[in-house]
Amino acid sequence: MAQEDVFKKVVSHCKEYGFVFPSSDIYDGLGAVYDYGQNGVELKNNIKQYWWQSMVLMHENIVGIDSCIFMHPTIWKASGHVDAFNDPLIDNKDSKKRYRADVLIEDQIAKYDEKIDKEVAKAKKRFGDAFNEEQYRSTSPRVLEETKKRDDLHARFQKAMNDNDLEGLRQIIIDEGIVCPISGTRNWTEVRQFNLMFKTEMGSTADGASTIYLRPETAQGIFVNYLNVQKTGRMKIPFGIAQIGKAFRNEIVARQFIFRMREFEQMEMQFFIKPGTELDWFAKWKATRMAWHQNLGFGSENYRFHDHDKLAHYANAATDIEFKMPFGFKEVEGIHSRTNFDLGQHEKFSGKSIKYFDPDLNESYTPYVIETSIGVDRMFLSIMCHSYQEEQLENGETRVVLRLPAALAPIKLAVFPLTKKDGLPEKAREIIDELKFHFNCQYEEKDTIGKRYRRQDAIGTPYCVTVDHQTLEDNTVTLRYRDTMEQKRVNICDLCGMIENEVTITSLLKKLK
Ligand code: GAP
Repeated sequence: MAQEDVFKKVVSHCKEYGFVFPSSDIYDGLGAVYDYGQNGVELKNNIKQYWWQSMVLMHENIVGIDSCIFMHPTIWKASGHVDAFNDPLIDNKDSKKRYRADVLIEDQIAKYDEKIDKEVAKAKKRFGDAFNEEQYRSTSPRVLEETKKRDDLHARFQKAMNDNDLEGLRQIIIDEGIVCPISGTRNWTEVRQFNLMFKTEMGSTADGASTIYLRPETAQGIFVNYLNVQKTGRMKIPFGIAQIGKAFRNEIVARQFIFRMREFEQMEMQFFIKPGTELDWFAKWKATRMAWHQNLGFGSENYRFHDHDKLAHYANAATDIEFKMPFGFKEVEGIHSRTNFDLGQHEKFSGKSIKYFDPDLNESYTPYVIETSIGVDRMFLSIMCHSYQEEQLENGETRVVLRLPAALAPIKLAVFPLTKKDGLPEKAREIIDELKFHFNCQYEEKDTIGKRYRRQDAIGTPYCVTVDHQTLEDNTVTLRYRDTMEQKRVNICDLCGMIENEVTITSLLKKLK
């Protein structure tokens, strides 16, 4: 299946099976805002648990907090968001559509990459086993020509972004002949900066309301609480603070479903360390976070690091963990070495000392910070895209199966009575009443067993059991596995032990090294 089709199918599957709905659906939706349905919320909660427990449970020097979305407005001045949390925007005068100038150029770079990859794929087909990709890439005149164009564009783009050169960005768009996808014209406006924070007012206007912002990241809630946590928790450096919560950005180019949303959720951890140790810790957190992703079993070839060309002025190292989505490798998580910038700024703007007293060194200093920051929704999307599969069965039918890691699946076990009579429903409910304390179960009695299997496959339920007349005699049921469709007869007493080991977050955590 073409990757574009996979993505379209995932989006409609999410809606059809209660994972993700457009927000305010009956009012035709609200741009880049989505609600999670009955299955989506379970999957999302499991992702959050996997992250939270891997941070807070697995590290004795990491604790969690839950800070507010509303914060003192000066925080955003101190963090630099008021002045510099901007996107460069450009409008097409004919279609009146607005675009991010940097995204238009990045898409153009991706087009060169695609061209090069197509050229290589064609050659691979032609030469078969004898094909040496590295050699071909470094000698084929067509590939070399496209690679040069791509690299020149990339270098020019990087320079314009680094220099904050808005006219330079516009010139690239003109020179590359980039057209508006709607009007097809090159009739572009100037490039302007646009701040991404949502503003609102706190207090009534008569009282002199103050402008406050919906937080664009959860990290600042951690920074302004770090000393409270350090003192009350008697934490010693190195230590970390983790938080999961909503963030808001007025994204201009909101697209690709839940990939870029205006209201989304982040899982962030700030790790406070001694100045000078940051590059070692940066390397450790890079490895730890990549292992967390790869532990889901989606294949290491689907992940890569993308080290930042353009570092924020306060960072001395930054990388993204990218996942291979149907629309290419895309950022899911950022790992940043943020030096002492944020704490230093809050010290300056609040006028309060928030230095750490190091009992080992007998001195005070402003800690450095390594941040790991991952979007829950992007993680959700990557999992859905990888897990969605259409399989051709031997009988010619197609089955849609969501091969979710069992520990993340919304429902772990579905229990079906073969018929709605003869005491089978009661027996099925008895099983659920026993197992529901251990994991999420679902009872289903409508339609044929085959149809019930298909519905559970489509939401990723790893196990189904069928209760039949034999169950009433010998307490055994048919256990059916989602991935292999294998069925076997097992005793009801053994079900919990067989399933629980595979479906809990603990089982996933135990595999983490
Ligand atoms: N505190 C650092 C920070 O917020 P970021 O790279 O801007 O860094 C971190 O965001 C992560 O948050 C991203 O890797 C992405 O997964 C997620 N994210 C950012 N903007 C998003 C959006 N508009 N919609 C969904 N997820 C988003």
